[in-house]
Amino acid sequence: MDWHVRTLEATDYDRGFLELLGQLTVVGDVDRETFEKQHMDMEKEGNRRVVVVVDPQRDQVVATGTALIEKKFIRGCGCVAHVEDVVVDHRERGKQLGKRVIEDLLQYAQKKGCYKVILDCAETNATFYEKCGFRRKEVQMVHYF
Ligand SMILES: CC(C)(COP(=O)(O)OP(=O)(O)OC[C@H]1O[C@@H](n2cnc3c(N)ncnc32)[C@H](O)[C@@H]1OP(=O)(O)O)[C@@H](O)C(=O)NCCC(=O)NCCS
Repeated sequence: MDWHVRTLEATDYDRGFLELLGQLTVVGDVDRETFEKQHMDMEKEGNRRVVVVVDPQRDQVVATGTALIEKKFIRGCGCVAHVEDVVVDHRERGKQLGKRVIEDLLQYAQKKGCYKVILDCAETNATFYEKCGFRRKEVQMVHYF
């Protein structure tokens, strides 16, 4: 299959992007106008890459992931990339698409000069990330409001 790997476009609203994210977590009601504004605001900020994999036959987004760049004072005012919202359509899992998403985001982070890439994941996904070159480090904490 000749998958297309590219950055998110506003028209991906019609290619099942939000439905795909819905396989990861609660998306809520996001109408086209709200989606387009959020997409435009993110583009303006310019400190992230939302990568998508598109099935050209169905013209549907089948995988996605985001890398967000955080500028820091430490490490000589270096930067860190946070990987978020990685999901592959349940019908297309096990086809190395998740790996392609992560490889794309790692490449982006390296080009941006990040000294590390970090993420949180469920125990059940740890092996997947290990296969993508990550290793376990420290403990995840959360405080919900
Ligand atoms: C986790 C997820 C992104 C993996 O995507 P995928 O496209 O199925 O994974 P890939 O085909 O690229 O797998 C790459 C390698 O990791 C392995 N792998 C993938 N998921 C795994 C898992 N849950 N447990 C163990 N190994 C796993 C594959 O067997 C493959 O191994 P190989 O290279 O030796 O053949 C996908 O299962 C998914 O979307 N899950 C639901 C959403 C989710 O949990 N996202 C992560 C949020 S942190």
